[in-house]
Amino acid sequence: MNNKRSFFKEAIKNIKTSGSLVPSSRHLIKTILEDVDFNTAKVIVEFGPGNGIITHQILKKLNKNAVLICFEVNLQFYEHLKQIDDDRLVVLNASAEEIKTELLKLNITTIDYCVSSLPLTNIPNVIAKNILINTKEILKNGGGFHQYQYTLSFFKKIKNIFDKENVKIKFEALNFPPAFVYKCKKI
Ligand SMILES: C[S@@+](CC[C@H](N)C(=O)[O-])C[C@H]1O[C@@H](n2cnc3c(N)ncnc32)[C@H](O)[C@@H]1O
Repeated sequence: MNNKRSFFKEAIKNIKTSGSLVPSSRHLIKTILEDVDFNTAKVIVEFGPGNGIITHQILKKLNKNAVLICFEVNLQFYEHLKQIDDDRLVVLNASAEEIKTELLKLNITTIDYCVSSLPLTNIPNVIAKNILINTKEILKNGGGFHQYQYTLSFFKKIKNIFDKENVKIKFEALNFPPAFVYKCKKI
């Protein structure tokens, strides 16, 4: 599962939920994570970790007393992520839609950042919108939601939820396919 071939095999079986056939490039991962303040972040959530290519980079930078909570619906990816031996990591076989209820079970009421690889355009509109609204609600003031997408189709919806002036967009050409990264700040 660590290599591109095993990711491809799992992704092609579930192309609608995986949304991509190859893991994110190191360039895209750098762009997604570059505005995360790892010095202060105590709780980070990751949506759609897949084979954990971004997860490992977050863990490398995460403070020793901080936590990373991953939401992954695919059982094979979930089982693979469970093998990561790190006390700061919690892996849930749950949908991003359940963020508030799942975090409450862990006694967590606010988060610093959410890093998302969700294929929003493949998720029913109402559910995708609920995910964004619930995530904004649980983000602390000053916290960030970072999401990549291969098209700009969600830009308007994201701007409506996080407010236009709080959404920055970056383009990363060095990924297959090239991707846009939304960086949304909760003010
Ligand atoms: C494009 S892959 C991203 C994998 C990896 N993070 C990367 O960037 O290479 C999207 C992932 O989102 C997961 N996913 C899709 N819908 C989800 C949902 N509602 N909640 C949690 N994970 C979801 C898929 O199973 C898949 O692993």
